[in-house]
Amino acid sequence: MNSVSSGVFISEIDRERFGFKTARITGITAGGLSDVLDFCAKEKVELLIARCGMSDLAAAQMMEKKGFLLMDTLVYYTRDLTRPLPQSAHTAARFRPIHADEEEAMVSVAKQSFNGYSGHYHADPRLDNHQCNDVYVDWARKAFASRADDDNFLVAEMEGSIVAFGVFRLNSAEEGELFLGGVHPDFQGHGIYLAFLCRAVEWCLARRAGRIIISTQLNNIAVQKVLTKSGFEVSRGYYTFHKWFV
Ligand SMILES: CC(C)(COP(=O)(O)OP(=O)(O)OC[C@H]1O[C@@H](n2cnc3c(N)ncnc32)[C@H](O)[C@@H]1OP(=O)(O)O)[C@@H](O)C(=O)NCCC(=O)NCCS
Repeated sequence: MNSVSSGVFISEIDRERFGFKTARITGITAGGLSDVLDFCAKEKVELLIARCGMSDLAAAQMMEKKGFLLMDTLVYYTRDLTRPLPQSAHTAARFRPIHADEEEAMVSVAKQSFNGYSGHYHADPRLDNHQCNDVYVDWARKAFASRADDDNFLVAEMEGSIVAFGVFRLNSAEEGELFLGGVHPDFQGHGIYLAFLCRAVEWCLARRAGRIIISTQLNNIAVQKVLTKSGFEVSRGYYTFHKWFV
């Protein structure tokens, strides 16, 4: 099995950020594990980030035997867009597309909302916490740079300041996604995320998508409270493991 058939690849973005030669694979199986480890040995990989399906306990247990450490559990929620949302959002915030000169204001919100986030990077004690925070800020910057002119990047404003942001995208003609969202800690718990969710649904419906998906970490209770109340259902999940070779 080569890197193409096993799905393992060198992640330049992780190497640049953390300074370790990093490989990634999603959908690793018990049967494919030794080929992936061979690839890492040949390529002198220092860190392997491997995800297996949540039902594939054989893969998870095989990785445990080989010294991989569990870092997070990623859960995907799906909603059929032909059904109306059971709840509507009431919030004092004003929602609008982000302006071209508002990147830094949005980034400031991203920094505060994702500070110490509960994803797999932060869970790894060998990775620098500040660099882990930057992962999410960089995603927000990249999403800003590549935003379309169809209002797929919204901000929520309170008293003239940006307090939250939400980014939508189409993964296919059928599927939309609320790809990234963050609410400033001072403004959390006031229904702003739910309001983004409602707007994401409207945005996807306007593009005739049949479903919307959202992924989050299993320990992100706030997001899942909103999703489950809004009729989203779990559709799939992955365990994320890290394996250090150095
Ligand atoms: C997750 C997040 C977007 C939620 O935004 P929000 O505007 O506070 O969300 P809402 O007010 O719409 O609803 C949050 C719900 O979770 C609850 N909640 C918030 N924090 C919670 C916690 N730690 N444990 C349990 N429930 C929590 C709120 O009370 C609310 O439930 P309720 O409607 O029953 O009262 C925000 O907390 C955030 O920015 N977190 C960091 C970044 C992040 O996780 N982004 C999403 C990645 S998928």
